[in-house]
Amino acid sequence: MDMFVIRGGRRLAGAVAVSGSKNAALPILAATLAVDGSCLLHNVPDLADIRTLAELLGTLQVEVRRTRTGAMQIVHHGDSACVADYELVRKMRAGISVLGPLLGRRGRACVSLPGGCNIGHRPIDLHLKGLAALGAEIRIERGYVIAEADRLHGADIYLGGPCGSTVTGTCNVMTAAVFAEGTTTIEAAACEPEVVDLGQFLISAGARISGLGTPTLRIEGVDRLSGCEHTVIPDRIEAATLMIAGAITRSSVEITHVEPAQLTAVIEKLREIGVGIECRGDALAVDGSGSLTAAECIALPHPALPTDIQAQLTALLSTAEGISIVTDKVFPDRFMHIAELARMGARVRREGASAIISGPARLSGAAVMASDLRASAALVLAGLAADGPSIVRRIYHLDRGYESLETKLRSLGADVQRTRDHADHIPLELADPLTPARPAAPHFATHPSRKKRPA
Ligand code: UD1
Repeated sequence: MDMFVIRGGRRLAGAVAVSGSKNAALPILAATLAVDGSCLLHNVPDLADIRTLAELLGTLQVEVRRTRTGAMQIVHHGDSACVADYELVRKMRAGISVLGPLLGRRGRACVSLPGGCNIGHRPIDLHLKGLAALGAEIRIERGYVIAEADRLHGADIYLGGPCGSTVTGTCNVMTAAVFAEGTTTIEAAACEPEVVDLGQFLISAGARISGLGTPTLRIEGVDRLSGCEHTVIPDRIEAATLMIAGAITRSSVEITHVEPAQLTAVIEKLREIGVGIECRGDALAVDGSGSLTAAECIALPHPALPTDIQAQLTALLSTAEGISIVTDKVFPDRFMHIAELARMGARVRREGASAIISGPARLSGAAVMASDLRASAALVLAGLAADGPSIVRRIYHLDRGYESLETKLRSLGADVQRTRDHADHIPLELADPLTPARPAAPHFATHPSRKKRPA
């Protein structure tokens, strides 16, 4: 297993480009199952989850290969297979995204239930409710959901759940409804940009969908979809993570290849915390040199703050002056990162679906363990801000969703090394905490140029 060794306390500088969106690319790749003819997808990030889904598509007679220019070409070799295997779906929850495309196009889907996850209970009852409303017969057998229909028919479907809309559920039901006879209306549909991007891809392939980006989708059924070309949107969660990297290290950095309109809530919240942000076309200039103050953050479905940056915001706010409250209304149990941040000196405790953070803490490098994708990002960010070395273990979580994060951070001047998780690679200060620390450069948090904001 790999780990990161991070020597924190360095200011960052320069520009870094954001990759294509993982959460948009996954359902689009899954939807290629429903398209007759080959597709060409641009800006698909090179990530563990994408490779796993490509492998899963391979077992469903769809070949996914990278062209020399880095685009992804998708070629069909048949359409009789309909079983999405447990061994692949268990590695990646997004494997459930093949359910709607298989059912809609092939009339039958047999997909392993995704199972537990470190960010809390993640049911798929709304996916099944929506597909059943379209006329599918659904049963659960031997850990698989089996959905069948000779012909789907249009329906009026309400897809809201106890925690709001469902992103992957909307993707599944929308893609299946493309093939339903007549008109389907989905109420309480997810408005996330990734759902919009999937909808745009389906439209390019011949689907008739309106209302994308709103809670009401209207889909007129068609008989078939044909091959098309599509460019995946930039990853707004990676962009937000890199913005927070600039802020937590009190640095000025530029994040390029972004779509600022998809980041409005994040930009607003970071400005409220004291981070300077200027939109320059498809780039964001981030200035973290001012003093940062506490804030209340509530993660809700789009267009509010995304749950996928809740952990990173918690890391940032642990270094800001005052008491912050970070609440997650989408995944109320998503707080595994708190105990690890506390190992680095953050003063944070959990109260129900909230983290209460007392800042500012001067973070101190430590050995910590990543528990899930976004928690890993939060620990890496804390490591960048901490005094001395940190190690972040189980980096495979991070590799599921960030393309070459360490290379991107290094290009901004961070000291982040990937290495095998082996006793020989533990920095001396962490192996024996009583060893006098190596003399370090003055920590950026005490940099004399740091300006105080008027109270
Ligand atoms: C997607 C994202 C994930 C993000 C999440 C919320 C992908 C691959 N993953 O996950 O990064 O954190 O959206 O923005 O795109 N729920 C139900 N019943 C269901 C489905 C969901 O109650 O049938 C609940 C969930 O438990 C959760 C909330 O609805 O509380 C939102 O979940 P959902 O939007 O479905 O998350 P995912 O699509 O799995």
